[in-house]
This record gives sequence, structure tokens and C-alpha cells, in this order.
Amino acid sequence: VSRSLKDIMENQTPQPHESNPRSRPSIEVIETKFFAGVIAEEIRASIAEAIEERGQCTVALAGGSTPSSIYRVIGRPSKDHPVDWRKVHLFLGDERWVPLDDHQSNYRMISETLLAQLTQRRPVMHPLDTSLTSPAEGAKKYAETISGIPGIIEEGAPRFDLILLGVGEDGHTASLFPNDPVLQHTSNAITHAVKHPTDGSDRVTLSLSTICNARRLLFMVKGENKAGIVAEVLESNAPVTKLPATLYRNAKGSVAWFLDTAAGSKLSDSKFPRE
Ligand code: 6PG
Repeated sequence: VSRSLKDIMENQTPQPHESNPRSRPSIEVIETKFFAGVIAEEIRASIAEAIEERGQCTVALAGGSTPSSIYRVIGRPSKDHPVDWRKVHLFLGDERWVPLDDHQSNYRMISETLLAQLTQRRPVMHPLDTSLTSPAEGAKKYAETISGIPGIIEEGAPRFDLILLGVGEDGHTASLFPNDPVLQHTSNAITHAVKHPTDGSDRVTLSLSTICNARRLLFMVKGENKAGIVAEVLESNAPVTKLPATLYRNAKGSVAWFLDTAAGSKLSDSKFPRE
């Protein structure tokens, strides 16, 4: 007996990325030598599109080491996607609770790479004030700064145009670490003060709901050491509490993964045809 299409559709077990078709990620595996240039152009295109559509662009930047080569070239003029940086609000997706000139500071890395080239038509950079009394105070203040950007609040919550993310070897993204209590319950918090699970250092991060609420998520991962975790995040059904980078499955907007050949080397071709 043939089953009706309606019956089939209603009884299909959605795969992680199929539960929310919009979050079906695009995945590009790029030769390492082209990695920074391709992603920089993609980011400029996303920013230019947001400015075209809404007159401004709100971006949360990834920290760590991967983005620095990308940020160094992002400021280059692009004939295809010219960016009026004066209309761009830059935030941090997460920050270490250290002075802004500390070598661990994500703001310092961004200053030395991205901002160093944008000296003429500067973007509006919003560092996280780590001089406040506590990370909790810093998180609260940052949430207020984010919410204060005209036009960012939609349906009661901030909607970034673009959030750039890296992935740690343990599957963390931003500073959302595996098994962290902030992942256990849905909350409308915009930011959290958290602690790094191994060294206990204080950090402030965008919340799960704020990241998932963005119009576009762009993951950028490179290196052989990330190949295993990338395959697990993109091909397993592990819950977000165990692998926070799987949050892409619940993204409200579009999701793009950019991997260099080393980081993409353990993906099974069958599941994610490479564009
Ligand atoms: C941070 C980042 C963090 C980073 C991953 C990957 O503050 O460290 O926001 O989430 O993206 O840890 O870091 P690498 O790019 O250095 O591997």
C-alpha cells in the first residue's frame, strides 16, 4: 500500500540539519592558501548586503587565533563588495576578562588586525569593558550596549546581521563550553559571564539564544587538529549541551561553514556535498 506524501512527510524523522531546513549549512572546503581571502570576501559581501538592506550592519566577531589572518585582509577594498565601514557596528562574540591590551584579549587581536587597516572610514567598535567590577557586571553592561543599537532589537531580542564563530577542539564556540549550565536551560539572556572549564579563567560570551537569533552565522575553522571535532559537529546528533558548536542546527538565519582542507578532511562526502 503506498503511503500518502502527507503521511510520509509527517512521519519523517528529521535529521539535525533537516529539523530546520534554513539551518542546513552551506559548507565550503577551501585550500588553506585561499582560506583567508575567500572568507574575507564572503564577510564583506554579507556586510555590504546588510547595509544595502537596512542601512547598517551589526557584526559579532570571533576571537582566538584563526580569524587573525582573515581580519588582516578584510579591510582591503573590494571591487565586488565595497563596504562603508562607518555603517558597521562591531562587537565581540566573546571576550576574555583581561585588560584590553593583554595578549589574551580578543579586542587586542582585532585592533592589531582588522581595525589597524580601517583608519580612514572607521567602523563603530564596541569593546567589552573589562575594567568593571566583575565579569557579571561586564556581561550586563555589554547586553545593554548591544540592546542600545538602534534597529537591532526584533521581537524583543537583539538580532545581529552576522556572527563570526570559531570552534574549539572540545566543540565550544564563542565561550559556550560543553556542559556549561548556561546551555542547560533556555533563557532570554543576551550575554553570560562564564569560566573556562580547564583554566577557570573568566570570560563573557553571547548567549546561545542571541547567537541562534542572528540573520547569518559564519563558522571558520582551519587545521588538522580540528578535523575530528568538525566531523563530529557536522555529522553526529550530539546535543548542544555536549557540543555547543552544534547550535547551528537551531539557527534562525542562514549558516555557512568555511573549512580549510585540513579541517574538512574527516567529513564524509555523502552527508555534506562540498560546494
Ligand atoms: C576565543 C574564541 C573561541 C575560538 C575557539 C577557536 O575567545 O577563544 O572566541 O571560541 O573561536 O576557541 O580558537 P582558535 O581559532 O584559536 O582555534
